[in-house]
Amino acid sequence: MREETYSFVIAANRLPVDRHVGPDGEQEWRRSPGGLVTAMDSVMRGREGAAWVGWAGEPGEAPEPFEDSGMHLHPVALSEQEVTDYYEGFSNDTLWPIYHDVIVPATFHRRWWEAYLRVNKRFAEAVAKVSDQGATVWVHDYQLQLVPRFLRELRPDLRIGWFNHIPFPPVELFAQLPWRGQLIDGLLGADYLGFQRSADAGNFLRAARQLRGLSTKGEVVRADDDRRVRASALPISIDFAALDEMARRPDVIERAKEIRSQLGDPEVLMLGVDRLDYTKGIRHRLKAYQELLAEGHYSPPEVSLVQVAVPSRERVDAYRRLKDQIEGTVGQINGEYSTVGAAAVHYLHQSFDRAEMAAMYLAADICLVTPLRDGMNLVAKEYVTCRHDLGGALVLSEFTGAAHELNAAYLHNPHDIQGLKNTIVRAVEAQPTEKRRRMRSLRRRVREHDVQRWAERFLQALESAPERPTGTPS
Ligand code: F6P
Repeated sequence: MREETYSFVIAANRLPVDRHVGPDGEQEWRRSPGGLVTAMDSVMRGREGAAWVGWAGEPGEAPEPFEDSGMHLHPVALSEQEVTDYYEGFSNDTLWPIYHDVIVPATFHRRWWEAYLRVNKRFAEAVAKVSDQGATVWVHDYQLQLVPRFLRELRPDLRIGWFNHIPFPPVELFAQLPWRGQLIDGLLGADYLGFQRSADAGNFLRAARQLRGLSTKGEVVRADDDRRVRASALPISIDFAALDEMARRPDVIERAKEIRSQLGDPEVLMLGVDRLDYTKGIRHRLKAYQELLAEGHYSPPEVSLVQVAVPSRERVDAYRRLKDQIEGTVGQINGEYSTVGAAAVHYLHQSFDRAEMAAMYLAADICLVTPLRDGMNLVAKEYVTCRHDLGGALVLSEFTGAAHELNAAYLHNPHDIQGLKNTIVRAVEAQPTEKRRRMRSLRRRVREHDVQRWAERFLQALESAPERPTGTPS
């Protein structure tokens, strides 16, 4: 049977929904974790003639293609071994640490690379199969850096763009990768490469020059097949209108009040929301909070911290260790500073639906976003979007992509624990007029640079990329 084909196809490691099979064999689809899905879900919803190619989140045979909220979803299969080698191994234990300043050491295994090659080829084949003649293909993230090249070999008629949701490392770190040349060549199969910050695009161009000997002119690199490929910055965002509307719903506003009262109506409610990842600086945040409690700046029940830690990559050692460390520290803080009925830290190792998250954002006086390195950090943008009341304060790490846009936040260096503590105190004690002024400016930025605008700009950049694909009219 001939597969249906589409004029617009996106490829991402994960589909927007994950398949979960319960103990009785019953199947359930749940929204996938992470910023990529948050952003792309709203871009893709309601788009005619569009398909999403990705993994369904469980090893084994791929489910049949299906529809979800008007999107055509095309699952790609990963075997148990490929989940270990391609996803947990090469993507998240080799590339992830290298692309995040080697916060933990990277692991190199040739077997993992072989799996990465094989799975990238499979994704390219799946995309080639479902793409119309001359279709636009948008490939996402570090898990699929070889897809542009494989896809161009299979389908030179396609317009191919790639966007990196995470940082692109400085050449000194990227150069450690034994497969650095193949990765650059893989990416250069695209017509246009998008990055979060201009520093990331600059790092890529430098790597292409220094490690591949390619010539660059401004943002354009000449690939070794003589095609010109543009690499530039396009910071990602969120669906401001949809989330703002949700946060204004009476049930969400009511729930925000209820959360505060369930927490004992603290004077200051702090909130952290992260995937449980070592890049997010959760340990640094807890250390700062613990010291503030120890020094008597704050104490429960007047002050409380809610830390949402969404389970992530739980079979990778560095993530397991981090979970143990964080849970140990939370236990220590609560053991020392909680009182009966008032916990110093409410630690929630789970994920919540969007309405509950909006209520939490609306309830929190301070949102702590403290990554050591983060491509963007959409939590920061979600928090300000929910604050239509102009309340709250955003404490934001300088090492996030978001800090380059949200400069009205309380910026800090999370490695500087004293500096982080001072910033938290400053945010808590700031006059309401100052907080409102900052929040107004933060909201304006996200409203005017939302995810729809980001997607439009990406597709324009792809459309006007220097080279026309073979066989398409210019
Ligand atoms: O942006 C980084 C990223 O890997 C995304 O691809 C994904 O949205 C998110 O982090 C969650 O990671 P994972 O798919 O490994 O659970």
